[in-house]
Amino acid sequence: MKKFKRHLITSALPYANGPIHIGHLAGVYIPSDIYTRYLRLKGEDVISICGSDEHGVPITLKARQEGVSPQVIVDRYHELNKTSFERFGIAFDIYSRTTSKVHYDTASGFFKTLYDKGVFIEKTSEQFYDEEAGQFLADRYITGTCPHCGYEKAYGDQCERCGTSLSPTELINPRSTISGSQPVLRKTKHWYLPLDRYEPFLRKWILEDHKEWKTNVYGQCKSWLDQGLQPRAVSRDLDWGVPVPVEGAAGKVLYVWFDAPIGYISATRELTDDWEKYWKDPDTRLIHFIGKDNIVFHCIIFPTMLKTEGSYILPDNVPANEFLNLEGDKISTSRNWAVWLHEYLEDFPGKEDVLRYVLTANMPETKDNDFTWKDFQARNNNELVAILGNFVNRTVVLTNKYFEGAVPPLGDLSEEDRQVLEQMPVIRKRTEHSLDHFRFREALKEAMTLARIGNKYLADTEPWNLIRTDKEKVGSILNICLQITANLSLLMEPFLPFSMEKLRKFIRFEKADWNLIGTPDLLPAGHKIDKPTHLFEKITDDEIEKQINKLKSTKTENEKKEDKNLGPRKKQIGYDDFSKLDMRLATIVAAEKVPKTKKLLKLTLDTGLDRRTVVSGIAEFFTPEEIVGKQIAVLINLEPRKIKGITSQGMILMAEDPSGKLHFIIPEEKADNGSEIR
Ligand code: MF3
Ligand code: ZN
Repeated sequence: MKKFKRHLITSALPYANGPIHIGHLAGVYIPSDIYTRYLRLKGEDVISICGSDEHGVPITLKARQEGVSPQVIVDRYHELNKTSFERFGIAFDIYSRTTSKVHYDTASGFFKTLYDKGVFIEKTSEQFYDEEAGQFLADRYITGTCPHCGYEKAYGDQCERCGTSLSPTELINPRSTISGSQPVLRKTKHWYLPLDRYEPFLRKWILEDHKEWKTNVYGQCKSWLDQGLQPRAVSRDLDWGVPVPVEGAAGKVLYVWFDAPIGYISATRELTDDWEKYWKDPDTRLIHFIGKDNIVFHCIIFPTMLKTEGSYILPDNVPANEFLNLEGDKISTSRNWAVWLHEYLEDFPGKEDVLRYVLTANMPETKDNDFTWKDFQARNNNELVAILGNFVNRTVVLTNKYFEGAVPPLGDLSEEDRQVLEQMPVIRKRTEHSLDHFRFREALKEAMTLARIGNKYLADTEPWNLIRTDKEKVGSILNICLQITANLSLLMEPFLPFSMEKLRKFIRFEKADWNLIGTPDLLPAGHKIDKPTHLFEKITDDEIEKQINKLKSTKTENEKKEDKNLGPRKKQIGYDDFSKLDMRLATIVAAEKVPKTKKLLKLTLDTGLDRRTVVSGIAEFFTPEEIVGKQIAVLINLEPRKIKGITSQGMILMAEDPSGKLHFIIPEEKADNGSEIR
């Protein structure tokens, strides 16, 4: 592998329209943080870039809902999210925002360069326009029925049910999300990035030169490329965003996915005057940490932008993760199905590392994964407390007890001692190998084996018994345990930065240097350590139950809301379809329960044309007695069906209200049986 001089790590800029949840952490920010900390600890030149993505329709929509300006929304969530990241120890060198002056300059400069080079295609096309609101309807300003799955709340850019990306004109029955009105088509001019022209370059660069990318990433790229790329509009008719910096573009801004990744560059410029070294020198290794929904933008569109600009390097790797679910369900902001960081921090103060640990252990690296509170508790109690915490605590307590807190000298080594010490460089190698390949779960598991080995060594050698007969040997054992402890404080640092800092404090070990891992003499004999404080604490059933109950009540609330749903809106039909239905007024002349069923009544109807039998599922709402004599609506040309051995010749028309209750459709005044309903 090529040896790089420096590393530029970026993490997807989260939209500033909502708080951060565990899915974001596990998918993007924890892996990027572990990796950054690892490189820093090795003494590499590395900077880590992030910030808020403050443009895009979801932000302006939310502002509209709340009746405030988009700036109010982004200010609120930028601050909240910046603080959450800091409190979880996510070690960005800068957390900037795409509404900064530097970003506006950088993004418009970038567009201008591509424009001047003649990269873009200018195209006028018909797009939806809301005449009531007097504006064009980009992306999520438009909803309608998905032509693929029939979901009636699909957005103009994507159906969230079936995941298909859409263009607004594909939607059936499109509606403006601003006024609810039916939009009209109007001509408008936009600039397109002709991705199709760069297909040969992309095919070679990704499919041939980056076979080492994660299979989920490589596979998605391949499928995009195999489907054939289309020119992509990089401007929108909106009033929130970076204005398109050319003549004749009034009222137009850069598409959010054009400006946001340039945000990485802007943030680097804000961080250091040396920014070009990080973005333009081929000796820099650029790595994008993202979630799987961002793959096309980071592997295809942004690289094409960088390539056509000409002076930038391209990403060397894009280690995208899959999604994290919560208790078996997809995490969803709109359904409030999430564990929000700012709430976790309130409920579990001082336990940032526990969440970091659990999310790493369950990281959705190769497939979607599930977070459960029971697993959270088990991993804390059985791994952090019982293995890592327990080992460190016993080592430090015994050293204080038997040797007044001074590291005892190492005597002659037994075979067992030697084996334990030999494991340290081996574990370091394995952990590094996993980290180098972005396999963070595996890396954490490897690192934890050192704590397991330490624990087992203590249990096998029993220094608390041996102290009565052989204090010198106990000294040796504790010396070894202290070396393991110091090694752990480095090996675990990328994963558990708060606890390892604490640990290094009480063993008074200041050298935070990855390259020391594996050395058996990090703490020299005579070195004084302090009294330990607990690194981890048990999490009780009560605490877990509280969290589970919180989710349960969210579920109940959501179900109540869904009950109000008025069923899916159906596809448009022609008059012909409607006229095929023969619906009549008829009178119920007899009614009885169908034996051995709960729901069914057997009705005899006078339809004006004949007497006939209809079986109807209304027994839970009506008794036979109360409905005899009612005049109701019935569909009479429905194919006869046998239900419980009775031939049903038609169907009673009923109205079902949102609670599921049924109502007859009854004429205001009685009319002749057989009257047609049209
Ligand atoms: N805001 C986007 C999201 O949350 C990510 C933007 S990444 C960037 O999906 F590269 F565009 F900045
Ligand atoms: Zn769909």
